[in-house]
Amino acid sequence: MIKLENIKKEYKMWENIVEVLKWVDLEINSWDFVSIMWPSWSWKSTLMNIIGMLDVATSWKYTFNNIEITWKKEDDLSKIRWKNIGFIFQSYNLISRMPVIKQVMLPLTYQWIAKNKREKMAIEALEKVWLADKRNNKPNELSGWQ
Ligand SMILES: Nc1ncnc2c1ncn2[C@@H]1O[C@H](COP(=O)(O)OP(=O)(O)OP(=O)(O)O)[C@@H](O)[C@H]1O
Ligand SMILES: [Mg+2]
Repeated sequence: MIKLENIKKEYKMWENIVEVLKWVDLEINSWDFVSIMWPSWSWKSTLMNIIGMLDVATSWKYTFNNIEITWKKEDDLSKIRWKNIGFIFQSYNLISRMPVIKQVMLPLTYQWIAKNKREKMAIEALEKVWLADKRNNKPNELSGWQ
């Protein structure tokens, strides 16, 4: 469960302050499937970064699965992230020299899952998106969609 209250996000650019989110409230319950659609340059990625605990708001109150996130330290946030959150970034953030299978296995490494189990899980995940046969390709050997 995700509950954000009174989120405000400002970016400081030299002398200017860009106000991106202003007093936003958001509640997403377990099993909700939510998509956020709004024009470009609005606030979607800013909000996703806050929900994903990759960035903090200028002022906010955030509760995630009944855990109060607002004042958590980076180390605690990274633990909550790797246990609960998967990301697909707008700019992909793939590692250029790493084959597909290793990219998929990487987050599992941080969870101390054994190598043969990581490999099995990664292949199963790749099969679900028809990419198992591309497991040894590097990012520049994939199409945009892939
Ligand atoms: N790190 C940053 N520093 C300063 N300004 C930023 C930063 N990140 C985003 N912005 C500004 O905040 C506004 C919202 O950006 P955001 O990335 O949230 O838009 P978006 O809705 O995801 O757009 P798109 O659909 O193009 O991905 C933009 O005007 C952008 O220039
Ligand atoms: Mg975006």
